[in-house]
Amino acid sequence: MAIVRVGFLELWVRDLERSLEFYEGLLGFRLERREGETAYLRGYEEREWSLKLTQAPFPAVRALGFKVDGEEALEGLLAWARDQGLPHREEADWGKPRILRVQDPFGYPLAFYFRSEKLPRMLQEYHLHRGPGVLRIDHLNLFSPEVDRATRYYQEALGFRLTEYTEDEAGRLWASWLHRKGNVHDVAFTNGEGPRLHHFAYWLPDPLAILKAADILAGARRTEQIERGPGRHGISNAMFLYLRDPDGHRLELYTSDYLTVDPDLPPVRWSLDDPRRQTLWGHRTPRSWFLEGSLLLDLEDKPLPTRPSPLAGIPEHVT
Ligand SMILES: [Fe+2]
Repeated sequence: MAIVRVGFLELWVRDLERSLEFYEGLLGFRLERREGETAYLRGYEEREWSLKLTQAPFPAVRALGFKVDGEEALEGLLAWARDQGLPHREEADWGKPRILRVQDPFGYPLAFYFRSEKLPRMLQEYHLHRGPGVLRIDHLNLFSPEVDRATRYYQEALGFRLTEYTEDEAGRLWASWLHRKGNVHDVAFTNGEGPRLHHFAYWLPDPLAILKAADILAGARRTEQIERGPGRHGISNAMFLYLRDPDGHRLELYTSDYLTVDPDLPPVRWSLDDPRRQTLWGHRTPRSWFLEGSLLLDLEDKPLPTRPSPLAGIPEHVT
């Protein structure tokens, strides 16, 4: 059941025009198709759509998409879903004719696919790039009230590999970063009320593109949508900028992490009270970043109930 990488995200938004003004107009995502109240977008490096926005009564996340390495992998995942008694169904979408949707044991609405209609190569059509030059989807970060169990399960059942983790003095796991594609992560779990989406991230070409994104938001008088950064993470070593879209969905613009393809690469341990893990340069992280996230939908498009984490709230030094 080889998962290759994170592949797409499907979001519900309250006003598609307003969302497109943000994603396409300000950030330069390529709008590839619009069908009524649904839009399909991608970054300039991608050959497939990676962000689907659908107008809906309330903001939510409908699917967390993962590309697999062939049709056989989909059969393996279907057998896994049946064996485990997990809710699952198949559906077709524009350009992705077979998507296997499975609600995992923690509730996360996963969506696996292999075949995808190829869109024209845009990487070197630089004269058509807009905004900061968003290239490709990089990862999903998920709130979980049981980071330890989820981390173990994603390694054992789905083949993810651990690159970095945060634990407290008692050895309790607070966050983990897991990959398939060979950089720091495709999925991360963060302690907190869940299951919810904490954020999704797109890769930018370099740190200057991160600064350009901040300048674009500032020029448009939209600084209220800059939640955190620009900065450099301790964890992952990446440069980052966190934005909130018009519905509050959190988008990270991300670049410059590192290669993790060695099967024997030891994971990096971070102590919960190490202030360098969140921001290497020592900036404080706003409270909203630790508490707010996006609702997930189940396979019937109903909001998933969440529960608080048994681990105590926000570490003092980061509030
Ligand atoms: Fe991230």
